[in-house]
Amino acid sequence: MIKLDLNHAFLKENVKDYQEEVCRIDESLVQGTCKGNDFIGWLTWPQDYDREEYARIKACAKRIQDMADVLIVCGIGGSYLGPRAGIEMVNGLYPTKQIEVIYMGNTFSSTYIAQVMDYIKDKSVVVNVISKSGTTTETAIAFRILKQFMEKKYGAEASSRIIATTDKARGTLKTLADKEGYETFVIPDNIGGRFSVITPVGLLPMAAAGLDIDAFMKGLSDGSGEYGDADLDKNPAYRYAVARRILQHQGYDVELFVEYEPQMQMVAEWWKQLFGESEGKDELGILPDSACFSTDLHSLGQFVQDGKKVLFETNLYVDQPAIDVLFPNDDKNEDGMNYLAGKSIDWANKMAAKGTLMAHEETGGVPNIILTMPGMSAYDFGNMCMFFFKAIALTTLMNGSNPFNQPGVEVYKKNMFKLLGKE
Ligand code: PA5
Repeated sequence: MIKLDLNHAFLKENVKDYQEEVCRIDESLVQGTCKGNDFIGWLTWPQDYDREEYARIKACAKRIQDMADVLIVCGIGGSYLGPRAGIEMVNGLYPTKQIEVIYMGNTFSSTYIAQVMDYIKDKSVVVNVISKSGTTTETAIAFRILKQFMEKKYGAEASSRIIATTDKARGTLKTLADKEGYETFVIPDNIGGRFSVITPVGLLPMAAAGLDIDAFMKGLSDGSGEYGDADLDKNPAYRYAVARRILQHQGYDVELFVEYEPQMQMVAEWWKQLFGESEGKDELGILPDSACFSTDLHSLGQFVQDGKKVLFETNLYVDQPAIDVLFPNDDKNEDGMNYLAGKSIDWANKMAAKGTLMAHEETGGVPNIILTMPGMSAYDFGNMCMFFFKAIALTTLMNGSNPFNQPGVEVYKKNMFKLLGKE
């Protein structure tokens, strides 16, 4: 369970004063009468998910592990960020035992595409193309290139090395997958892209990368209970949601999501999509930004400490690192670092976090929300997903906006299609 500490948040209103509003909104979520209610399938997914498909995901993941060195995950936005966040958080950035996962379909960069294609040319490859609409341009461009590569490299066997995760019936990708005989997995109609990491979108790549998806689902399901109470005293996700609204009333328009583990930088990217697309509408919302400390204390840290007071920080601390390292002694001590000899480097990381909190809070005057998760396991990732899902749903509904649509994302596409000459 994620712990919440609001003692450093400088809140000028009492969170509990919002209890009545929270109860009303929670009721509308549970009863399915809230704005965007056709996209709240994530709420009951831990109970409703398709067991037969789940077993197929596990079997497919095993097949991928047995036959490939590299899994290409081809998708963008909600069809990309979640699986990458989970895989990197749990496996770290340089895993040695798991299959290598490479991401495509998330950029128009010709250099990136060319370099990946060159990198994989002599490797054993499986492709998981992920697109709910089945028509997203970045993904479609990369997938055509990958499909031709796979057909040239594997001939008839290519179709057994390509897996499509898409809508159950609609879209170009679904039609193509059926025609080519690819194994397919379904993105449910009632779960939007940025909530879809809990569906085959996330489950298949995570399982193929060696994550324990049973533990992930257990964390998610436990989160449904732990963050399911309308009573603010019993629900840290809802208290966090209300605290954000209070801070916005106090004039803070930017939320800086801070983590102290480089392998959680994609969690921050995933969180930015979840929060930015959900509440950034109706000319409302808090701009989600992120930083990885202590790395970014040597750059952005200056602004946080002394710059314009536009932001508050939401720190995601981790109690237990995946691996700890003891700092070695050196008899000569020429670098003068022996004062740390025998100490844990994770302890030093935590002291850096403590010192940063004091600096930003006491002399910087920056409000800090502190979230602490037990570790970086698949269970913790699943649990964290439900925490942020519940928080963003409530906080956006408090603004009167629909948390589950993203009309703004479509605008650039219209211009781009015109410029690209799409009919
Ligand atoms: O949240 C969203 O809806 C978007 O970010 C989509 O996930 C992204 O555009 C990819 O869409 P699709 O899965 O249809 O290819």
